[in-house]
Formats: sequence, structure tokens, C-alpha cells
Amino acid sequence: LNNPPVHFKCPLKLFFLYIEVHVPHEVDQIKDLEIRDSDVFAVTFPKSGTIWMQQILLLLESKGDLRSANMRTIYTSSDAVGWIELKGQPERFTREESPRMRVTHLPFELMPTALTQRKGKVIYVARNPKDILVSFYYFHKIAKFLETPKSFDDFFDKFMNGEVLGGSWFEHIKSWYLHKDEVNMLFITYEEMIMDLTSAVKKMADFLSIELTEDEVQQVVKHSTFKNMKEMSKANYKRAHPNLIDHKEGTFMRKGTIGDWKNHFTVTQNERFDKVFEREMKDVPASFIWDIR
Ligand code: A3P
Repeated sequence: LNNPPVHFKCPLKLFFLYIEVHVPHEVDQIKDLEIRDSDVFAVTFPKSGTIWMQQILLLLESKGDLRSANMRTIYTSSDAVGWIELKGQPERFTREESPRMRVTHLPFELMPTALTQRKGKVIYVARNPKDILVSFYYFHKIAKFLETPKSFDDFFDKFMNGEVLGGSWFEHIKSWYLHKDEVNMLFITYEEMIMDLTSAVKKMADFLSIELTEDEVQQVVKHSTFKNMKEMSKANYKRAHPNLIDHKEGTFMRKGTIGDWKNHFTVTQNERFDKVFEREMKDVPASFIWDIR
């Protein structure tokens, strides 16, 4: 991410240049941002359904009306629900009218301290880390700005060592989960969303105090299914420049399923993963809704 391609001329390409850069001193400023009660942050470790949350937040705000959701964006849902940590975003955030909606991969410690005064709202989306690892492996193959993995085995090691974008999954989830009672936070899993998207959407709407009719809920659900998002260029990064995403190698919306790790992990890798999971997560009193084994 720190080495984006530079030969961009058209606005679409500039947009992606724009979103691919982190500026350390700007990230440091995020802690001091003033937070409004209406601010919403969807927090994810990469490959946990960030793009899904961007779509759902836009649709919730638009009460399920896809046209008005699309009017808030130019190229992708990131226009309206962007990453707070990217270049220029903290400054843009301070100037933006409410409601401000953002996604982030940042750990709790780098986020605005005002969140702990119960200002704003956070939706943390967790996903089975085994499926994240697989999704991330394929993402590295299509993302031109990330190192192409030598092999699945090699990438497995990197993920377990926290040597991937976003660092250690274990540290990320612990940093948020262990502070969840200090902030207005809804903790939800990708798996819950897959199993019952209608209930998940209602839960999110309730949490954000957005009143929706049953029909509006169904519209949000309809326009945020994997199948439908795969067809929407604003929702699926199909228009990302080939310098960033090599569309010949695969798609951002890859499978959208639970348990794909079972098609990839060897028995040895799985045993190693379980051991690390047990050790790292022993202080987290959560019962996660996924089939880790
Ligand atoms: P897979 O690679 O397992 O298919 P992120 O946006 O955080 O990078 O996450 C991307 C992952 O979320 C990909 O997982 C992608 O297919 C999945 N995803 C995106 N939208 C989805 C949806 N509407 N339903 C289910 N999965 C979705």
C-alpha cells in the first residue's frame, strides 16, 4: 500500500491512487478527531466483509433505495463510506456534513479517543480467521500493490506471523473486543450475516437508530447479497484500475462463503492454527459464531 503505482491520469485512476496511500502523521491525527454522535465506523480486519459493510451502510442510510445510495457515490461505495486512515481522509472527515460513515482496518488504539466517551457508533465485523487467510491469499494474487504469494504455505506463515496488511488478526480482534464495553459498539460476524442477512440488517438498523419498514429492510438485503453486489460495478471494485487489481487473475467478490478454508488447509496447518488460536484468544470470553474446526 505504501508503493502505489504512479502513472495515473484520469480521475478514476487518481481516485485509486488517492485511496491507496497512508500518511503516518495523518493516521496519528485520527486519535484527536472530534466525533459526533451520528458518526458511524465499520471496523474490520481486511477480508472480513468491508466492502459488504460499505454497501449496507449506504443502503441503510438510503432506506434501501439503491438509486439514492448510488447518487452518493461516483465510482464506488468508498466515495461515501471510505477508509478513515487513507491519505487526506482525516481532513475530509472533519469537513464533512453528518451523517459521516467510514470503514477502517485500524486497531482500537489508533482510533479517535472520543469513541470511549460513547460518542459515535462502531460496528465491528469479525470473520473466521481461517476464511480470512484464504480470502487474503487470493486477494494478494489480484492486488498488484501487494506481494504475490510464493505459495499458500508461505502465505500461511506470513498470516500467522502477522506479516500481512493489517498486522496480526489476533491482535486486531483483541484490541477491539477487549474494549467493546467502552464504546458504543455492535459486534457482529460475517457468518451471522451470511446465515441470516435480514436479521443482521435489522440488528444494524436498530443499533444505528434507523427506522425501516419491512419492505425497506428487504430492499437493503436484496441490494447487498453477494450475487447482486457482484453485478454492481459501484459495489464490487470491478472498475478498479488494472494497475491495482488484475481482473484477469480473479475478482474482489470471490466466493462469499463460509468454510472455504477446508478446501485449502492441510491437517498440519489446521492443527497449527488451532493451537495458536487457543493460545492467543484465551482471554477473550467470546463465543464466536463460526465453525473454527
Ligand atoms: P471471499 O474472498 O472469501 O469471497 P473485504 O471487503 O473486507 O476485503 O472482504 C472481502 C470478502 O468479503 C471476500 O470474501 C468477498 O467475496 C466477501 N464479500 C463481499 N461482499 C459480500 C457479500 N455481499 N456477501 C458475502 N460475502 C461478501
